[in-house]
Amino acid sequence: MLRYPIYPDLAGKVAFVTGGSGGIGAETCRWLAANGVRIAVGGRDTAALARVINELTQDGAEAFAVEADCTDAAALDRARIAITARLGAIDILMAFAGGGTARPAPVHETREEDWRSALDHNLTATFLTLKAFLPAMRERRSGAIVTMASTAGRAASAASSAYASAKAGVIMLTRHLAQEVGPFTIRVNCVSPSAILTERTARHMPEAQRATIAALHPLNRLGTPADVAGAALFLASDSAAWITGATLDIAGGRLMH
Ligand SMILES: NC(=O)c1ccc[n+]([C@@H]2O[C@H](COP(=O)([O-])OP(=O)(O)OC[C@H]3O[C@@H](n4cnc5c(N)ncnc54)[C@H](OP(=O)(O)O)[C@@H]3O)[C@@H](O)[C@H]2O)c1
Repeated sequence: MLRYPIYPDLAGKVAFVTGGSGGIGAETCRWLAANGVRIAVGGRDTAALARVINELTQDGAEAFAVEADCTDAAALDRARIAITARLGAIDILMAFAGGGTARPAPVHETREEDWRSALDHNLTATFLTLKAFLPAMRERRSGAIVTMASTAGRAASAASSAYASAKAGVIMLTRHLAQEVGPFTIRVNCVSPSAILTERTARHMPEAQRATIAALHPLNRLGTPADVAGAALFLASDSAAWITGATLDIAGGRLMH
């Protein structure tokens, strides 16, 4: 536990992490737990959720699983009711669910269903998550929200145009919302990672490819889930009290805006 940086203001707060069942989201849950945050861990995969919850609770954290598909508004409403009943009002929302499963293809060859799916699973899922949890935050006039973009949404690349467009949309949604809810003392920021080595990406990336991708980054390595979790915790904490509407590139120097 001592390896995690501690933000004392986070202790006792309640967080909901969508995409908490794996990769970057699961690591963020570990960092939140080490800071004494009480966590609702979101995902769809029951077994993966159980593994994360077991690990967190064995380490003494208060955490429970919330099975909800973030493309389903009714499921998110049920999630909000369950979390509030179990942990109380939500202080921190990490809207991380998403992913880049869309196959890169030239725009004219991109299937409409793949386009719609990428938008649905990244941009619309983020919108629906925000929509479900904002009213209570507005009422309490407090909250910290972190959304999840990608380097793909920051600069043209070989990634799928649908995924890139969806993540660019998340960045603008973040800015728009930050402006809208600033007067309610709600901060909304975005993390934008480049290539992060998670359990899933590791399965699909041979060593040689890892070295090639690492070399695209001035810091000459792939990112880790901890690189993103550290940034997300900072943005959720009072140390970032005057930061809102920002997009933080976690990209080893690959992007410098
Ligand atoms: N890894 C990278 O290199 C990288 C780079 C830039 C941005 N990102 C973004 O970071 C986020 C997390 O990615 P990751 O690499 O950590 O991926 P991951 O290991 O595949 O985890 C994805 C997480 O999102 C959840 N999820 C996906 N769609 C969902 C939906 N419709 N409803 C609810 N949960 C959903 C998954 O839950 P279940 O498995 O339980 O369904 C899982 O917990 C994604 O938004 C991704 O686009 C990743």
